Amino acid sequence: MATQLPHPASSQAFTISANGRFCFGGDWNPEQWDESTWEGDIIKLEHAGINEATINVFSWALIQPSEERYDFSMLDRIVALLDKHDFGFIMATSTGALPAWIPAKYPDTTRTDYEGRHHAFGMRHNACPNSPNFQRLSTALAGKLSERYGNDDHLVAWHISNEYGGECYCERCATAFRTWLKHKYGSLDALNRAWNTNFWSHTYTDFEQILPPNTLTDGIDNRRATLSGCNIDYKRFQSDSLLANYTGERDAIREHDAKHPITTNLMDIFEGLDYFKWGEQMDVISWDDYPFINTTPSDNGFKHDLMRGVGGGKPFMLMESTPSQTNWHAYNVLKEPGKMRLQSYQAIAHGADTVQYFQLKQSAGGFEKYHGAVITHEGREDERVFREVSALGAELNAHGHDFLGGLIDAPVAMMFDWDSYWSLENVSLLPESFTYRNQVLRWYAPFHRRNLAVDVVPESISAERLNQYKVLVAPALIMVKPGVAELIEQYVQAGGVFLTTIMSGMHDENDNVILGGYPGAFRNVCGMRVEELDMYPENKKVQAVFDSGTSDVSVTGGVIKLDDGARPLATYTGDVFYRGTPAATVNDYGSGAAYFAGAVMDKAGTDMIVDNVARRAGLHAIASPDSVEVITRSYPERHQKLTFILNHSGAAVTYPNAPFDGDRSLLDGTTLSKNLTLDPYGVIIAVHDTDR
Ligand code: GLA
Ligand code: ZN
Repeated sequence: MATQLPHPASSQAFTISANGRFCFGGDWNPEQWDESTWEGDIIKLEHAGINEATINVFSWALIQPSEERYDFSMLDRIVALLDKHDFGFIMATSTGALPAWIPAKYPDTTRTDYEGRHHAFGMRHNACPNSPNFQRLSTALAGKLSERYGNDDHLVAWHISNEYGGECYCERCATAFRTWLKHKYGSLDALNRAWNTNFWSHTYTDFEQILPPNTLTDGIDNRRATLSGCNIDYKRFQSDSLLANYTGERDAIREHDAKHPITTNLMDIFEGLDYFKWGEQMDVISWDDYPFINTTPSDNGFKHDLMRGVGGGKPFMLMESTPSQTNWHAYNVLKEPGKMRLQSYQAIAHGADTVQYFQLKQSAGGFEKYHGAVITHEGREDERVFREVSALGAELNAHGHDFLGGLIDAPVAMMFDWDSYWSLENVSLLPESFTYRNQVLRWYAPFHRRNLAVDVVPESISAERLNQYKVLVAPALIMVKPGVAELIEQYVQAGGVFLTTIMSGMHDENDNVILGGYPGAFRNVCGMRVEELDMYPENKKVQAVFDSGTSDVSVTGGVIKLDDGARPLATYTGDVFYRGTPAATVNDYGSGAAYFAGAVMDKAGTDMIVDNVARRAGLHAIASPDSVEVITRSYPERHQKLTFILNHSGAAVTYPNAPFDGDRSLLDGTTLSKNLTLDPYGVIIAVHDTDR
């Protein structure tokens, strides 16, 4: 049985709203502007239906110009103006960027990088998490802010720091790491065993010899190190260190404000932090969504689901998104007309209870001066983006309240694990294209194509919760912690359908290989073994042949043996000596079944496997045109379901035999028929009253 981590934050349910209205707003940086412009800008934003501003994200230098002096006069005036205009506000703590005086006075507050260089003042996200001076100054500031603004009736939530991330390799971090290790392993013997330190003569005879893995020590590149156990422990330790910064500020806020939710903005599949651990400490999850030019609707759907999963399934906040353009991607393309609205509804459909932008007013100077905003450099209200924001604002002010609090009843769970993420990235064997991120997105896509909702769950999920799902998918889940294999075996025994893939089940919690045949921890439930792993270049043609078709594959479990009860689902053909042997297998186990995808498959292959899985589990896929996504939020207390029908294409599309006839269309009040037409990037929301 997996150990259940305590979930202190989730015991209290917070509903996010701007004084009862659907929270529609975003980052506002009035400190970058002359005060005479503030009220005019608020009035413009009001015209667009904006009702919230996230403030004080990067103002530490202004609100605390020296250690002895706090100056909240400007922030007081900003808050007063927002109050006057009945705007909700999210108060950030400003600790995401150090003011210049802090590193000047306390050099320990800045980070030492992977190359071992100690940084001076500059940039943001630059504080050493284990600097006592940073800890003291940041928590003191958070406490002061809470004391001053915690009772304001327009306060929506607290926003601590900003996009936590990055590592530090300084002396203080090294010392704190050793303490963390002593606590974890108890003895040097246990640590030497766990890290397999006899490799390359790494046996430690004193804790003091242990150094953070970077270029000057054991780092091979910033993903891999000589001892992966050490590398992963350092990542765990850095994630915990930043989390301690978060909880430090959180506790300081709580001393003066017991009631407002506290969050920080996360970044979806971000590698640096174990967000499941973070989610346990956050009242509500918020995250920043900046789809790239090649981010598919499925990939973006996964990101929303991951963030909802990190919060234990509760609604989350879309803390940032761009009204049209970013400025930091390789290609900063405009969002075509309608696309921002569509992407906002995709967030809501996947569980967002806010729509917020970065930013409300475009900067005139600094690195982000060309980043999109609601009020642009030109500043007119008849610009395309302003008009689109206003139209969405009108809709959200009319209907947004109906969206709040809805849950998603997903029949499918996908197990995601940051330790596996780190462990897989540390494997020296795989081609560059085989990453944890790619594998997870690849296996999410066929469920998304079938409009089968997915909950993303941690390895620490309880048996009771897991048993509610018909299917459990675990792509490239390489690190399996104690109890997890047993948890999954009981799940399948009881009738669950399990789908896992190559590079799963292979490592224990110390990142050592589980001996006795791959996929290690999952051998028993999968009823087969992988004898060899084959990594050939992309131009070598190998196929997996299923009953229903053929799939191009790469990275194979070259030689799969079925001596433990599994049956082949597909076999290899092509230029490999193991042609004719299994490429995918299925094993009946108790009342359920375990599927193993023995190669990286293309779309056809993942589709054929997921069709098999869905049939076996009795899942009800919803057919829709390629560009159309269908996803439902449930409101049991008012006996209602809202189904979001989203056209991700810039062309209009017809949707024949849509299963929503007779439902009311929320946005225009009409009754839906069997055949729907969706505008380019169009959205229909079907209201379905469930039986009372
Ligand atoms: C991040 C940050 C913001 C801003 C935006 C720009 O999400 O949190 O401060 O830099 O990116 O896209
Ligand atoms: Zn440090």
